[in-house]
Amino acid sequence: MIARLRRLKSDISYLNKARTNLIDAWPESYYRKEFIELRYVNRRVFILNRPEDIQHVMVSNASNYRKSLANRQPLKPLLGEGLFVSEGKVWSRQRKIANPATHTKRLEGYAKIMIEAAGEQMAAWGESGLPREIDLTEEMTLLTSEVITRCMFSCRLGDKGVTLYEAFQEYLASHGRIHITELLGFPEWLPRLSQIKGRKAVDKFDSVIRHIIRLREQSNEQPDDLLQMLFDFQDATGQPMDDLLLRDEVATIYLAGHETTAIALGWSFYLLHRHPEVKARVLEEIEGALQGRVPCFSDLSKLPLCRAVFEESLRLYPPIHVFSRQALGEDKVGGSRVPKGSFMTIPTWVLHRHEKHWENPNDFIPDRFLPENSSKIAPYTYLPFGAGPRICLGKHFGLAEGTLFLAMFAQNFDFAVPDGRKVEAWGRMTLRPKGGMPMIVNRRD
Ligand code: HEM
Repeated sequence: MIARLRRLKSDISYLNKARTNLIDAWPESYYRKEFIELRYVNRRVFILNRPEDIQHVMVSNASNYRKSLANRQPLKPLLGEGLFVSEGKVWSRQRKIANPATHTKRLEGYAKIMIEAAGEQMAAWGESGLPREIDLTEEMTLLTSEVITRCMFSCRLGDKGVTLYEAFQEYLASHGRIHITELLGFPEWLPRLSQIKGRKAVDKFDSVIRHIIRLREQSNEQPDDLLQMLFDFQDATGQPMDDLLLRDEVATIYLAGHETTAIALGWSFYLLHRHPEVKARVLEEIEGALQGRVPCFSDLSKLPLCRAVFEESLRLYPPIHVFSRQALGEDKVGGSRVPKGSFMTIPTWVLHRHEKHWENPNDFIPDRFLPENSSKIAPYTYLPFGAGPRICLGKHFGLAEGTLFLAMFAQNFDFAVPDGRKVEAWGRMTLRPKGGMPMIVNRRD
């Protein structure tokens, strides 16, 4: 009995550490091991770093797994039953409706909007007096938030972008941690204290999401965008999408469609600052490809190093740094029996730095992702966008946006972390820099 109580105490203290900063909580040995089986209180938890096991859970036998509460619950108050959170038939139907909006044939049109919005942001920086210190993650968040709104909902956010940004920051302050209740699989109906605390932030966020929807309801125009696809949907009986579900999808596409890209851009410029030799090559590539002009969609193929820098920063700092799935029925993974209800954890942060899968795993080596080298990356060792049926809806959108913005901002500005400032990776709901990404921004000569 005493031994069990001691074990419980140590489990709870580990889980507490994990929920403060999950990155720091992964034991050193996990970066070498491929299959780890643990018991927390009454739950079986498997940590998977072996590509075949990851493929089994996320792809080949994905129907036996659902996103666990640890992945879904923290976002539910904001996103309701939107694509990121929903399961089963609702998810499958909604995914089919949204898929066409991110088809690669639409990318060229989206790229025009991205380039225009980045141009406006750069002009505003130029007018604001440089050099000055900024939080680069915040600035990139406001920009990508404007871009996703223009691309998917055909409207401009303007100042409302700041309201959404503030609402989400307030929300993260109460929901950003990974919760013990979710890790232990407490029932969904149980009220969480954080839900009560984050209510004001949800209302603030919701008011802008509903404003975006209202604008379309009151408009005579029907642009060819995702919002219109949601409006036009009718099920087999001719019923339109439920108002609340439509609201949840708008909230989901808005949030999933900008936050991760912005964080990844912040990390990309941080890594370039830390690696001047790579930065010099990046600037050379940009100069050669663009010769001082504004890029266009077709320039993307001329910027392989810019794209490789963005992909390598997604390896070292994957914004979604852990996946958690729960077994709906019994299974066998890596030769071990997986009882129904077990948690399958795929720790992207660890997988991307695993000694068996990567040479010099902690080093920033963008050349790994250059077209001539990328075939050496083994399948299911690099998962910044997930895998299987739940793979990111906006993967190509995010990669195009990340590459274009990296090229445009590096072409015009220089970014440097102020002397003496530490940038620390903080593994919360997403992998963010703790306290922001401080950068002195200056115009490049
Ligand atoms: C660099 C940028 C991005 C990264 C790193 C990223 C990462 C991810 C990951 C890892 C998932 C899967 C989560 C899981 O399986 O538990 C995901 C899902 C999703 N992403 Fe992205 N994402 C990015 C950009 C975007 C963009 C631009 C959009 C919208 C245009 C988007 C929309 C979504 C949606 C709707 C889902 C849920 C898909 C589903 O469950 O069916 N993401 N993202």
